[in-house]
Amino acid sequence: MAVQRTFSIIKPDATKRDLTGAINAKIEASGLRIVAQKRLRLTEAQAGVFYEVHRERPFYGELCAFMASGPIVAQVLEGENAVAAYRKVMGATDPAEAEAGTIRAEFAESKGENSVHGSDAPETAEVEISYFFSGLELVG
Ligand code: CMP
Repeated sequence: MAVQRTFSIIKPDATKRDLTGAINAKIEASGLRIVAQKRLRLTEAQAGVFYEVHRERPFYGELCAFMASGPIVAQVLEGENAVAAYRKVMGATDPAEAEAGTIRAEFAESKGENSVHGSDAPETAEVEISYFFSGLELVG
């Protein structure tokens, strides 16, 4: 498997509790490299575009409001099989179902406020990375 990139967000519930460093430590301990990173605050409309695929879901409004409720840290992670590797480091969407030692098992507060986002496929990763980062910001 070739080196791959995935997109990650450290969500407002985690930045609010100053967990960026602890989450980054888990990412780096897993062998993934953080090759781009920035802290920013989304508007609800910007969050809505990012989560467009969930527009029809009952939690869409709540999700967009939460993602705009505080700073996020957007990241590009690189490594072998990065998309699947990061999903393993994150754990299941619902922290009650997440494996021990994963980011969500340790830090997530609920299914909605679940500390991190990671791309679900390499194609999605490309779209998500280009929504947040320009080529000039991807320095490796
Ligand atoms: P994420 O990986 O960012 O992708 C979509 C997000 O929707 C997910 O993480 C959760 O934060 C959120 N989500 C999924 N299911 C629910 C739910 N049942 N209620 C509230 N939020 C949810």
